Amino acid sequence: TSDNGKRKSLHGHWSSRMAFILAVTGSAVGLGNIWKFPYIAGQNGGGAFVLVYLLCVFLIGMPVMMSEILIGRRGRRNPVATMALLGKEEGSSSHWKWVGSLGVLAGVLILSYYSVIGGWTLAYVFKSVSGTFTGASATAVGAEFSSFTSSWWKLALCHTFFMGLTVFVVARGVERGLEKAVRFMVPALLLLMFTLLGYSINSGHFGSGVAFMFSADFDALTWDSVLAAMGQAFFTLSVGMGAIMAYGAYLPEETSITGASAAVVIADTGIAILAGLVIFPLVFANGLDPADGPGLVFVTLPLAFGHMTGGTFFATLFFVLLTFAAWTSALGLVEPAVAWCVEHFKRSRAEAAVIVGSVIWVLGFATVFSFNAISGVTFFRGTLFDNIDYLTSNVMLPLSGLLITIFAAWVMCRNSTSEELGGAGTGYRVWRFLARFVAPVAILFVFLKAIGVLPE
Ligand code: PFF
Ligand code: NA
Repeated sequence: TSDNGKRKSLHGHWSSRMAFILAVTGSAVGLGNIWKFPYIAGQNGGGAFVLVYLLCVFLIGMPVMMSEILIGRRGRRNPVATMALLGKEEGSSSHWKWVGSLGVLAGVLILSYYSVIGGWTLAYVFKSVSGTFTGASATAVGAEFSSFTSSWWKLALCHTFFMGLTVFVVARGVERGLEKAVRFMVPALLLLMFTLLGYSINSGHFGSGVAFMFSADFDALTWDSVLAAMGQAFFTLSVGMGAIMAYGAYLPEETSITGASAAVVIADTGIAILAGLVIFPLVFANGLDPADGPGLVFVTLPLAFGHMTGGTFFATLFFVLLTFAAWTSALGLVEPAVAWCVEHFKRSRAEAAVIVGSVIWVLGFATVFSFNAISGVTFFRGTLFDNIDYLTSNVMLPLSGLLITIFAAWVMCRNSTSEELGGAGTGYRVWRFLARFVAPVAILFVFLKAIGVLPE
């Protein structure tokens, strides 16, 4: 008995079910799959990490995603206002708005570094096109990367361009901006990844790459790695920060939330695995170190392209698509803050996009300098960039994901959630079980283990 059937989003709606799936897929598939997943898996020893990651994606990530979409569609506002509204409507309190705020803040912080890496992909489009990598040795490609990242003004310039692209699309709104962008980019990226897989299979070290990714050595797995796997699961699916909630607010009433979530989770996981299968064989074929860190894709792939026929073309195409993938994800990162700004301060979308974008642009300099001027200043998890990444992925996303599922599965009444999830069938029961028990307990347990509150 709510009026949500009549509730409309102020920002318009997706024109179809497909548009929504593409938008969420566009937000999910990004640097997290192609840049971050391989290097984190590499740093955490491969196989066992990958397995824990997959468990987290399906047992935690997917139920959190469904919770976010259903909350978003029911509230039809920005995450802060939606949580406040539903908090009251479901007989709890408007203090739930703090959960929404945590998400908005996480998005802003993540985008501040995401945009810097997005800038790298842009720069690599130009490096590729000009034939920088043709026939280059592993040392030369590595040197190219370090000389690039050690120049703060180059990083700042690329970061500025990338933020500009993001603000431009967001300012145009849901249908004319976001939707147009994802319709073309997501399918193109998928196609190119398969082409690259063909190349990596022929590179000679496919077996060692596969072995590294899938042979699990659980003795080497620490709770810290488990937390990293869980954080990566949240990050890659774009859940635990209100991005999916914001996108859910524009979702037509009749679309199946379970079906859409499943499609997105499968696409995202598929692309991450594919990226690993492309990257690791190349790592081993060229005597590189899988634990090399953030530079991994920016070294392995140019190296591979540099030695393949038509390499200049494929390298360029790849970095263009990676830029697209990063771009569509950046849209999801900024949407909660922009929607909040529009509704809260009664701003136009364009104004809100510029204001939020400028704040994020300034924050991005923390990451820009982490690779040069202050790269020697390390504390806790490493550089300032490492710490922003750890705080957002491993603390803020799980915490806010925990609170979101608790809200959907414990605070909201059965009628509301089953109405959104299309009846009380098996799918609904599985979601409710995972969201009530499995996800919250797992999140809390892993988190407390990793920070050492629970004994070994
Ligand atoms: N899921 C994106 C990726 O894997 O690159 C990152 C991301 C986008 C996280 C949007 C959160 C978000 F809201
Ligand atoms: Na992803």
